[in-house]
Amino acid sequence: MKLLIMGPPGAGKGTQAQVIAKKLGIAHISTGELFRGHIKNQTELGKLAKTFIDKGELVPDEVTLNMFKVRIAESDCANGFMLDGFPRTVPQADALKDIAEIDKAISIVLEDEEVVKRLTGRRTCECGAFYNVNISFLMPQVDNTCDKCGKTLIQRDDDQEITIRNRLVVYRRQTGPLLDYYKDILFDVNGVGSVEEVTERIMEGL
Ligand code: AP5
Ligand code: MG
Ligand code: ZN
Repeated sequence: MKLLIMGPPGAGKGTQAQVIAKKLGIAHISTGELFRGHIKNQTELGKLAKTFIDKGELVPDEVTLNMFKVRIAESDCANGFMLDGFPRTVPQADALKDIAEIDKAISIVLEDEEVVKRLTGRRTCECGAFYNVNISFLMPQVDNTCDKCGKTLIQRDDDQEITIRNRLVVYRRQTGPLLDYYKDILFDVNGVGSVEEVTERIMEGL
């Protein structure tokens, strides 16, 4: 199964893609995560990407596409994949068409104020655990500390309110047209509710 998951920043794409890819036994590809890996390793690509990401702007298509093509060619993608945060522009979608035929596209819907609340509160751990200090059911038990491994939690550099607001503008302007582009295979999912409730809605739609 070849899927893609769309939606504004903070809608829960990464959270849901992780769960659903595991359930279906397919790869989870997040271009945002790939960029953050490069930034952490201080590669040339990472240094370039950071100048865009920190402003809430998109990384140029050519750079993103080159990185994506390397990832999609890896063996774990042979069984199918869920794309999270890619494509984000019409040229990216056109390029994807030449690589793979997507079966279904999911669009998670969430209001701007809920996005800001979720993203200003998002914290993650190196071990993969995720938390949210603004959402009661996602709070860590001890301030700033991972319940699972005890490490200090991390806040993303682009999760500052001013950057979040720009990411929302960029989403509407540059990614918005893809909702129409994929209209024949796309279904909307309400992003409000528990993580499990949202997963159930997606599984029903699939
Ligand atoms: P990317 O990493 O893709 O960021 P994004 O699209 O802004 O989305 P987020 O990862 O912030 O949110 P999410 O929808 O995954 O939500 P999450 O599950 O974490 O991209 C970052 C940047 O990289 C871009 O701005 C751009 O610069 C660049 N980039 C990436 N791809 C690119 C591309 N293709 N082309 C060009 N540039 C690209 O959830 C958010 C929070 O809410 C978490 O704390 C979570 O725990 C919590 N939460 C999740 N579900 C629920 C729920 N049901 N109820 C309450 N809280 C919840
Ligand atoms: Mg994400
Ligand atoms: Zn941890």
